[in-house]
Amino acid sequence: MWYFYSPNIIFGEEALDFFENIRGKKCFIVTDKIIEDLGLLRILTEKLDKCQRVYTVFNEVLPDPREESVLKAREMCIDYSPDLIIALGGGSVIDTAKAVWCLYEFPEYTLDDIQVNNNELYAMGKKSKLIAIPTTSGTGAETTNVAVISRYEYNVWRKLFCMHKGLVPTYAIVDPIFPKKMPPKLTIYTAFDALAHSVEGLVTLWRNEFSNALCLKAIELIFKYLPITYNNGENEEARDYMHQAASISGLAFGNAQVILAHTLGHSFGSIFHISHGEACGISLPYAVQYVLNDPEGAADTIKIYAKLAKQLGWAKWNEENKKAAYKVVERIKELQKEVNFPTKLKETGVSEEDFEKYLKTLILLCFQDSTGVLGPRAPSKDEFERLFRYAYEGKDIDF
Ligand SMILES: [Fe+2]
Repeated sequence: MWYFYSPNIIFGEEALDFFENIRGKKCFIVTDKIIEDLGLLRILTEKLDKCQRVYTVFNEVLPDPREESVLKAREMCIDYSPDLIIALGGGSVIDTAKAVWCLYEFPEYTLDDIQVNNNELYAMGKKSKLIAIPTTSGTGAETTNVAVISRYEYNVWRKLFCMHKGLVPTYAIVDPIFPKKMPPKLTIYTAFDALAHSVEGLVTLWRNEFSNALCLKAIELIFKYLPITYNNGENEEARDYMHQAASISGLAFGNAQVILAHTLGHSFGSIFHISHGEACGISLPYAVQYVLNDPEGAADTIKIYAKLAKQLGWAKWNEENKKAAYKVVERIKELQKEVNFPTKLKETGVSEEDFEKYLKTLILLCFQDSTGVLGPRAPSKDEFERLFRYAYEGKDIDF
C-alpha cells in the first residue's frame, strides 16, 4: 500500500474566481509586507469584497519564518476565530499559515506536536479550511504536508520540519496573476527550488509512479519555460506554465520527498541566511553527481536519470545509460548559466573565512536534517565536508 496526498488544485488564469465556490465567511489572511506593497493583497481583498467575505490581515511574515512570528499570528487568529485561513505569499507565508492553522485547530499544541506520528492531526479542518495562494513559482508549499519553521536552539537558527498529512492545504489556488511581478532574481531562485524538488524526487526511496510522472512533467516545463520567463517576465504563457510546474513539483516531492541537494541547501541557507532556492539550486548538480558516482550501486539511479535524459531529448535512446545519466548534471549546469544562476556556493558572497569557520556546524546540521534519510547514497562526515568544499569552489564531484 502507498498513498498520494494532494489539495484541491485550481490553476490557470482567473483561478482566483473559484473563491466564489468556497464556503466560509470570516477570513484570516496570512501574508507579508512585500506582497502588500506589490498590490497583490489588494487583488485578493477585492475578490473577497466582491464575494461579501470579511477578513483581517496578519502581514508580518519574514523570510525563514520564526516560531515567535507563528505564535503571534496564532494569538491573532484565535482572537478573530475565522472559518477560512488564507495564505497569500511564497513558501515562508504558506508555511507560517500551515503552522498557524494547526495551532488554531489545536490551541493546546506547540510546534513540537506537529509531527507524523500524531494521529490527532488527521482531524484538521474542523474550525477552518486552509487556502494557499502562491505568489512565487517555486516552493510548492501550497501542495505539501510540511511547514518549515526556525527555532533558536544550540546557538543556531535550526529549521523545524513540522510534517503531517493534516497540513496539506484544503485548496491551492495557482493563479498566474500573482507571480507576474516577481523580479528576475526571485524568478530563477524559486524556479531552481522547484527543479531540485523534481530532479531529487525521481530518485528518493519514496518515489512512486505518481510522483515519477509529475517529476518528469515539471522538469520538462521548467527547462522549456524558465529561460523564456527569465528573458521576458511579461510572457503570460511562460509564467502560467512555470507556476503550474512549481505546484506539480510540489506534489511530486510532497509525496516522494527530497534528498541531498536539500540537505546541503538547508544547512548552508540556515547558517548564512541564503535563500532556500539559491542554496538548494546551487547544490543540485553536485548532489546529483555524488549520487551517480556511488561505487556501491548507482545502477537504479543511473537508469532513472538516463531515462530522464532520453525522454527529454538530452541523450539518444541508444546511448549508454551511464553516459546519458550524467547529461542531467550537464543540463542543470547549462540551465544555471543560461539564466545567470550562481554555480558555486562561493558566489553567494560567503567569505572563505566564514565558510571555514562554520564548516563543522554545516556538517552537523546535515546530520540533523530529515532530508538526509531517503537518498540512494548517504554521505559520511568526511564526504559532507568534501561536498561542501567542492560546491563552494565549483569543482566536479570526483568521489
Ligand atoms: Fe525546496
